[in-house]
Amino acid sequence: MKKTLLLFTMCLTWAGGAQAADADFTAGKKLFQQQCLVCHAADLDPPKAPPMFGVQMKYKMATADRASFIDKITSFAMHPTEEKAILKKPVQVLGLMPEMGFDERDVRKIAAYIHDETFPPPCKHWQVAMRIFKERGDEKAFRHHKKRYDAMCSTTSATEAREPETQAPTAAPAEAGTLKSVMQQLGRDYAALDHAVLVGDFAAAAVAAEHIANHEKPSMFQRMKIMAVLRTEMSAFKQADDKVHQLAMAIKQAAEKKDMPLLIQRQSGMLSACMACHTAYRSKIKDILK
Ligand code: HEC
Ligand code: HEC
Repeated sequence: MKKTLLLFTMCLTWAGGAQAADADFTAGKKLFQQQCLVCHAADLDPPKAPPMFGVQMKYKMATADRASFIDKITSFAMHPTEEKAILKKPVQVLGLMPEMGFDERDVRKIAAYIHDETFPPPCKHWQVAMRIFKERGDEKAFRHHKKRYDAMCSTTSATEAREPETQAPTAAPAEAGTLKSVMQQLGRDYAALDHAVLVGDFAAAAVAAEHIANHEKPSMFQRMKIMAVLRTEMSAFKQADDKVHQLAMAIKQAAEKKDMPLLIQRQSGMLSACMACHTAYRSKIKDILK
C-alpha cells in the first residue's frame, strides 16, 4: 500500500513539474514576442536583428548547459557590448543591439524559452540576406547564407544548388525514376550529412537525415526488374533498405536533440548500412537495370 502511495505521489510531482515547465515556456514565449520580436522576427525585410534560429545555435555551441546558456543570453540582452557579441557579422551590418533596460527576470524567462524552442530555419531571412549581400558585392556573406538556404530550405536536395567549384566531379546524372538516380541523390544527401556532422551543424544534419529516410523510390518498372532478378532475395533487399531508413530516423533524432556523441555513433553506422546492400546486390542488379 505504502509503495503504491509513494508511486502515486511521484507521478503527481512529475506531472506538476511538466506543467510548470509548460507554463514557463508559454510565459517566456509571450515575453519574447512582446519584447524581442519587433527586431528579431525572421521575416523582416530588411532585417533588424539576426533570427533566433542562428542565435540559439551559436549560443548552444558556446555554452555547456542550459543554465550557462540562460546566463549568457541574459548578460548580453541586459547590457549588450561588442566584446560579448558572438555573432560578429550582425554587429557589423546592423550595429550593436541597443541597451533597452529590460527587466532581468523577464529576460531570464525569455532566455530559457530561446533555449527550449525549436525555431524553424529562417528561409525568408536567408533569401533577403542573399539579395542584400549580392547587391553589396559581399560574396563571402552571400555564400554563407546561400549554403544555409540550400541545405535547409530547398525542397529538393541539400546539395543540389551548391556552388560549382565545390561540387565533386560526378558521373553523368542518371535518368529520373531509375534506381541509379535514386542512389545518386542518396549519395549527395549522405555527403551533406557527413559535412553537417563535421561542422557541427545539427539543423542541416537533421534535414539531410530526413532526406535519406524519405528518399524517392525507383519507378514501378525498375522495381519489377529488380524483383525479377532477386526473386526470393527481394525481402532481404528490402530489409537492407529499411535498415538505412531506420538509421536515418535515429540520426535525425540525435541531431534534433543536439546530442553530438550519439549523432556521431549513429552516423558512423550509416556507411556500413549502405555498403551492406551494395556488397550483396549491386553487381547483381547493376547490369539488368541498364
Ligand atoms: C531594437 C531592436 C532589438 C530588440 C528589441 C532586441 N534586439 Fe537583440 N539584437 C538586435 C541587433 C541589431 C542584434 C545584432 C547585433 C548584436 O549582436 O548586437 C541583436 C542580437 C542579439 C543577440 C545575439 C548577440 C551576439 O552574441 O551576437 C541576442 C542573444 C539578442 N539579440 C537577444 C535579444 C533578446 C533576448 C531580446 C528581447 C528581450 C532582444 N534581443 C531584443 C536588436 C534587437
Ligand atoms: C537496398 C539496397 C541499397 C541500399 C540500402 C543502398 N544502396 Fe546505393 N546502390 C544500390 C544498387 C543496387 C546500386 C546500383 C544501381 C545501378 O547502378 O543502377 C547502388 C548504387 C549507388 C551509387 C552509385 C550511383 C551511380 O551513379 O552509379 C551511390 C552513390 C549509392 N548507391 C549511394 C548509396 C548510399 C549513400 C546509401 C546509404 C545512405 C545507399 N546507396 C544504400 C543499392 C542500395
